[in-house]
Amino acid sequence: MSDFNSDFWNWYIILPTLLGIIWCFWLIWWMSRSAASTEGKENDDTGHVWDGDLKEYNNPLPRWWLGMFYITLVFGIIYLALYPGLGTYQGIFDWSSRQSYENEMAQADKTYGPLFAKYQSEDLVAVSQDAQARKIGERLFLNHCSTCHGSDARGARGFPNLRDDDWLWGDSPDTIKLTILDGRRGVMPAWEGPLGGEAGVTNMTEYVISLSSREHDAAAATAGQAQYNIFCVACHGVEGKGNIALGAPNLTDKTWLHGASKLRISESIGKGRQGHMPAHRDFLGDAKVHLIAAYVYGMAKD
Ligand code: HEC
Ligand code: HEC
Repeated sequence: MSDFNSDFWNWYIILPTLLGIIWCFWLIWWMSRSAASTEGKENDDTGHVWDGDLKEYNNPLPRWWLGMFYITLVFGIIYLALYPGLGTYQGIFDWSSRQSYENEMAQADKTYGPLFAKYQSEDLVAVSQDAQARKIGERLFLNHCSTCHGSDARGARGFPNLRDDDWLWGDSPDTIKLTILDGRRGVMPAWEGPLGGEAGVTNMTEYVISLSSREHDAAAATAGQAQYNIFCVACHGVEGKGNIALGAPNLTDKTWLHGASKLRISESIGKGRQGHMPAHRDFLGDAKVHLIAAYVYGMAKD
């Protein structure tokens, strides 16, 4: 069945393509033949007349135009013979975009592989102080990380700033490397239900704001605190300083992953948040991640 299918689609491409080219040849041959037959007979008209005196002339096609038409047809045939274009036929050059990509990657691995390997066996802190390694790390970072963390690594709402000293998951060199290799998932459940609806979320928001000494409604915050001790301490800690084992942010500082406004904070509490840092182990490999981790570590320490 699948054989029949792939055969069918194969010919579905090949036949109309070849027939189309043959038809173009025939058309051009036919046009130039009728051009030859009318040669010498200037102003031969087709007999069609509009509005009493508007006639359609049957003049031969210009030679340059026919020439261009022939050239494009021949080009098309040569191209289809050399490159894949006719169904599953691979073409004389045996070119494929996948092969071309793989060749480029193999070439890059050959050029940079030994360089990456040299740093891979070095301690992360040492690599983070090596000017050449940092340059390579920066380039890798720009290619693979800047879409989410920004080209200056200062992040955006939902994507942590990697230049400050505020860390969700910890700032030791090995922890940073592990974060990049295996990714991270921040799981902050939605609390609107357990907190008893909107009023509960509002009270809790006031309490969370009070933790960083911002202006707040004291009565609401006190009501919130009682619930904080039941629902939130497990992850954010008694003092609200967070827990790097769970990626639970410190709520007492001025850094907010998901926004500092009351509205954003109450959304974080009521609806929950799920930050996802993708794993890069299979995609980039240990050697490249080693260089990136050193770069991130060094950058944060600057
Ligand atoms: C299961 C652990 C867990 C519990 C319990 C928990 N949180 Fe969280 N909280 C997290 C994690 C993890 C994040 C970070 C989410 C992310 O990575 O996107 C977070 C994020 C937040 C944020 C956003 C912080 C920022 O920087 O934008 C607020 C506010 C917050 N939690 C408040 C609370 C409150 C209030 C409670 C109790 C009602 C609570 N959390 C209970 C794990 C928890
Ligand atoms: C698809 C978006 C995305 C890409 C790509 C991405 N990250 Fe992340 N990264 C995140 C998010 C989201 C978090 C926060 C996870 C959380 O909420 O706990 C994060 C967290 C981190 C952390 C932990 C920060 C902390 O405070 O503990 C580090 C370090 C990090 N990323 C580095 C990188 C590096 C290096 C790369 C490139 C190899 C990269 N990230 C690529 C989205 C991304």
